[in-house]
Amino acid sequence: MLREEIGRLRPGDRLLSSRELVRLHGVSPVTVSRAIGRLAAEGRVVTRPGSGAYVAPAVTPAVASGDDGADMSWQTVALGDRVVDDSAVASLLAPPPEGVVPLTGGYLNPALRPSRALSAAASRALRRPDVWAMPPQAGLPELRRWFAQEVGGDVTPSDVLVVSGGQAALTHAFRALAAPNTPILVETPTYPGARAAARAAGLRATAVPMDRDGVRPDLLAEAFAVTGARVFFCQPTLHNPTGATLSLERREQVLAIARAAGAFVIEDDYARYFASPSTPPPMAALDVHGTVVHINSLTKPLSPSMRVAGVVARGPAAHRLRANQLVESFFVARLLQETALEFVSSPAWRRHLATLETELTLRRNTVVAALSARMPEAELHLVPRGGLHLWLRLPADRDEDALVEAARRAGVLVGPGRVHYPAEPPGPRIRITHSAPVHTAELVEGVRRLATALNGS
Ligand SMILES: Cc1ncc(COP(=O)(O)O)c(C=O)c1O
Repeated sequence: MLREEIGRLRPGDRLLSSRELVRLHGVSPVTVSRAIGRLAAEGRVVTRPGSGAYVAPAVTPAVASGDDGADMSWQTVALGDRVVDDSAVASLLAPPPEGVVPLTGGYLNPALRPSRALSAAASRALRRPDVWAMPPQAGLPELRRWFAQEVGGDVTPSDVLVVSGGQAALTHAFRALAAPNTPILVETPTYPGARAAARAAGLRATAVPMDRDGVRPDLLAEAFAVTGARVFFCQPTLHNPTGATLSLERREQVLAIARAAGAFVIEDDYARYFASPSTPPPMAALDVHGTVVHINSLTKPLSPSMRVAGVVARGPAAHRLRANQLVESFFVARLLQETALEFVSSPAWRRHLATLETELTLRRNTVVAALSARMPEAELHLVPRGGLHLWLRLPADRDEDALVEAARRAGVLVGPGRVHYPAEPPGPRIRITHSAPVHTAELVEGVRRLATALNGS
């Protein structure tokens, strides 16, 4: 029925929402999501989480079905059903349509990036005589030293592996630390890209609830006991999406619990450069037993294209991570590593961080004030001590999908809460990101449009 429906629509048209399809056809949400997934795999629709499924550009279905040009439909049979669900990450990277305020995404607006200083660093890197030579496989020694110093504790440069950004680090870590078909634990809510990477590695994620102070140690211990998981993925600092930061005491508890379970902790420190100086040290700095695998990516504070991250791991786990990257992609391009090193060793790095702190604090305060003035019925989970995101609880009777869709029609993109939950969401939530719009006036306009959508939906 959906295929026929697509035949009647034009490329770019939106299909009915999952909720509407469930109601219309009297089928379960799982059936609808399988059908949409199948159509996406066939190239007939493209999905944009939080927004819906859209008829794919004309050429794709025609080519796939053989109506026009070469017949590629044999591929559907050859490939089988091993569809990689990229919807969570695709939406993170999708450019917002013209005129729409993006309160979504996970990177800095180009105006907030140190683009000129980065280009200057790249020029200096290009002038190095060995820039096109093969780098040491685990990364440039100086860059590894820098990443080790950033973590602190007794982490040494030899504990660091340079990889191609945080997402690659997650994939390497999941593949290296857990066998397919085994369970892992994740905070709930969590970063959807981590769920996608875990799923692609064949892992089953079990959700561990959080409170305002981060993951709940009592439930973490119970989840280890119940599942037998040997990996816990977490973001102890400025957790995406809730903004929670784990106290020093809880960090120590989490470490002790993981250690008692014989498990690894993957510490995604994605927001460390957006955190206040009073933030406790990374868990990797407290760890002496090789429990923590720590990820620090430069994409967040610099640019999505600065795909350089340091992964700290010790013992056989470090070996496996290294082997995994080598087999998969050899190493990170030397030019990018040299550029990263040039930049973080220059005065521009500290200057940039200082500017960012001022700008992001202003943005957060602007959105918090606009929300409390215009949307008092939406409850802010907490005011994070830094970061890029705000997590909002909507009144229980509100339909999250309907609001996200109404907001889109009103000209503002917000992130649906649902995609962050590995298990049932506790109620309607949305995530608001303040780093993507150009300036604070755009942020205020975004909240105004969101309030209009909330009042009208
Ligand atoms: C929590 C978290 N971890 C990791 C990543 C991956 O980022 P990157 O691969 O650009 O380092 C993201 C991106 O949005 C994120 O939000």
